[in-house]
Amino acid sequence: RSSDLHIIYAGNLAHTKEITMALWGGRFTQAADKRFKDFNDSLRFDYRLAEQDIEGSIGWSKALVSVGVLTAQEQHELEAALNQLLIEVRSNPQAILQDDAEDIHSWVESKLINKVGDLGKKLHTGRSRNDQVALDIKMWCKAQVLELQKSLRELQAKLVLTAENTQDAVMPGYTHLQRAQPITFAHWCMAYVEMLERDYSRLTDAYNRMNSCPLGSGALAGTAYAIDREQLAQDLDFAYATRNSLDSVSDRDHIIELLSSASLSMAHLSRFAEDMIIFNSGEADFVELSDRVTSGSSLMPQKKNPDACELIRGKAGRVIGSLIGMLTTVKGLPLAYNKDMQEDKEGIFDALDTWHDCLTMATFVLEDIKVNIERTREAALKGYSNATELADYLVAKGVPFRDSHHIVGETVVYAISVQKGLEDLTVEEFRRFSDVITDDVYHILSLQSCLDKRCAKGGVSPARVKEAILEAKVRLKI
Ligand code: ARG
Repeated sequence: RSSDLHIIYAGNLAHTKEITMALWGGRFTQAADKRFKDFNDSLRFDYRLAEQDIEGSIGWSKALVSVGVLTAQEQHELEAALNQLLIEVRSNPQAILQDDAEDIHSWVESKLINKVGDLGKKLHTGRSRNDQVALDIKMWCKAQVLELQKSLRELQAKLVLTAENTQDAVMPGYTHLQRAQPITFAHWCMAYVEMLERDYSRLTDAYNRMNSCPLGSGALAGTAYAIDREQLAQDLDFAYATRNSLDSVSDRDHIIELLSSASLSMAHLSRFAEDMIIFNSGEADFVELSDRVTSGSSLMPQKKNPDACELIRGKAGRVIGSLIGMLTTVKGLPLAYNKDMQEDKEGIFDALDTWHDCLTMATFVLEDIKVNIERTREAALKGYSNATELADYLVAKGVPFRDSHHIVGETVVYAISVQKGLEDLTVEEFRRFSDVITDDVYHILSLQSCLDKRCAKGGVSPARVKEAILEAKVRLKI
């Protein structure tokens, strides 16, 4: 270790001891208290930014050549050492955790100095950890977006394929958790495909907005070296350079946007999970979840609990918590960088990991789900979910809709009292409520007719659902 990274510590503790001093130690005569250091250090979580920090450093070394701070030869040497460090980091990222550097930026710099000596100390010229951390986290977020979009697509594909296989599974659709109108399991699957499509496009929007490079903003006022920041942005695979240095180092919008996208998508996954839990319940018995995604009870031998779905539903809470946490952290921050902003990392790391895991688990849940199509049909036949059809039938025979709604209401009350479905009533029984009803009513009360009639775009008619599935397969290249 080079000597300026050490001081002789003779602080207010009784003993005297040599300890490692931080990279910014020049202004300090005392080392940080161990308790403060533990509180302040971020290496234990920001080690995940190692690759981004190294790649950003390579980009910065090139910029330093253009302004004459480094020779081409020096840059070459630095780049080679940084690339070597990158290989080490990739082979064992956790090894970083053994070190006691303050954060990943200090860690990379000190490792570089270990490798190339004094030359390594030139790298931080004109750069601040403020623009460095802003860069690293943006690069990390960009990479995550692409990974998450892949997982979203995989879940969508699984839903579309499940839909393809369940077009004949008629089941009740619900409002207020009351049987409302018949739908198919396929139509239900395709509803989630739509939600995930919006989640996907939200990520694309967020990606485009975060695609600006903050490096070269210095601590807050801009770097004192006349580097070409657009060139630097290009080298680091950004669409353009940020326009204002103050904003660049204090902006965490990309994190909040991702947390918001994650929260909304988790709300979708949570509803998916909740539907599954209901469908899998003994009361509904519409689906059977596979043994691979359920668990038993330690006490009740008959139980098979939908833990995977319950955890997806439960984890939505902690992702939303990270969003609220981050919004609360930034809301009162004065410009520019404040250490509060270090709190951005654990939340975004955890939220995106969680979202990713839940997408994978939801895909897995669908993998070998069994839909019990006798049970779903039986349930669809119950609950008077064809009552709307009867009302429309009366309308077709000239009865105004408000009146027909009332007539059908009375008919349903009667049918309940004699414990029959509408389709089981005789024409005589129907005629107590309206004399326009004849025996052509039975056809329209059938499940098939209920489905077929909903043939406008987006409806549940089997022809439309089939089209929707085909369209999704083409669009999503399944
Ligand atoms: N660990 C810090 C963070 O994550 C890096 C930036 C430190 N900058 C500073 N001025 N102390 O925010």
